[in-house]
Amino acid sequence: MGEKWVLMKTAQTPTNIAVIKYWGKRDETLILPVNDSISVTLDPAHLCTTTTVAVSPAFQQDRMWLNGKEIPLSGGRYQNCLREIRKRAREVEDKEKGIKIEKKDWEKLHLHIASYNNFPTAAGLASSAAGFACLVFALAKLMNVEEDESQLSAIARQGSGSACRSLFGGFVKWIMGKEEDGSDSLAVQLVDEKHWDDLFIIIAVVSSRQKETSSTSGMRESVETSLLLQHRAKEVVPKRTVQMEEAIKNRDFASFAKLTCADSNQFHAVCLDTSPPIFYMNDTSHRIISHVEKWNRSEGSPQVAYTFDAGPNAVLIARDRKAAAQLLQRLLFSFPPKSDTDLDSYIIGDKTILQDAG
Ligand code: DP6
Repeated sequence: MGEKWVLMKTAQTPTNIAVIKYWGKRDETLILPVNDSISVTLDPAHLCTTTTVAVSPAFQQDRMWLNGKEIPLSGGRYQNCLREIRKRAREVEDKEKGIKIEKKDWEKLHLHIASYNNFPTAAGLASSAAGFACLVFALAKLMNVEEDESQLSAIARQGSGSACRSLFGGFVKWIMGKEEDGSDSLAVQLVDEKHWDDLFIIIAVVSSRQKETSSTSGMRESVETSLLLQHRAKEVVPKRTVQMEEAIKNRDFASFAKLTCADSNQFHAVCLDTSPPIFYMNDTSHRIISHVEKWNRSEGSPQVAYTFDAGPNAVLIARDRKAAAQLLQRLLFSFPPKSDTDLDSYIIGDKTILQDAG
């Protein structure tokens, strides 16, 4: 190996939005959840992370930049992902450039990682999900790792739980698993992005400010103090995931919308049941819920499902293009951006909302 080369790979990974939420860990280090969760992967054009990973004998240490700013890699989560992926690195040869990296060389070589989000970081738009999934995917490409997406998802999981679901497009299930070492806590694709392609997603960015309580500390407090969380994990989610899988398989929008809204509301009820209570939604979020509920009732059958993560932004899933157009018209009228409703902007998906990772 000479000193003067750099080998690079770039990957792009969309974020995902849970329709059955992950909230609570049974193991904080390995990131093992207290329940299964199900998500939909978004169109990378609107919400994605692009990560370039580079290796060179000239690099003195592992370094990372997020949106152009260097961030420390000392956190256990990055170290866990890097360690796990390095373990699986294989020989890489680039004949054109005259580069050959043997398996054992990966232990000594350092990495530079540059990552960009095309959406606000940590504003409840699941930036860590796309971020860690993309990091693991890009490193796997660079290091010629053989493992499939599900196996890679178990590594991304150790960066951020929800990241494991971003390795696939379409609808994805994170199976909580039973093993203590977390080897069976991984993501599987339920259906691909073509299965239900008339769905249409609109995100109402109620606030792009950083959230006050991170998901990690919020769910820790919920696990420690919320009885509702215990009930949800043991009694509610196991049944709900079966019903959700059925709704997705049959493209049954009425059931899908009912389950999605109920699960979002229960997740936020768990937050309120936490001591001290956590408030992720604000008045605008609540008004959006009321608006959608009223509209769905007046139509006789649901046109739109809503779901909110650890922040005030509404993710609205319309049953088809027509419902999406009507929804947008209603939102722009009742919640004009940059008005006293405190709403920042809208992100609008197109018909190809569900795409493959990578
Ligand atoms: C509300 O995956 O961000 O978005 O595992 O601690 O990194 P860590 O948490 P994170 O939590 C996501 C919580 C959620 C629900 C979900 O995406 O399932």
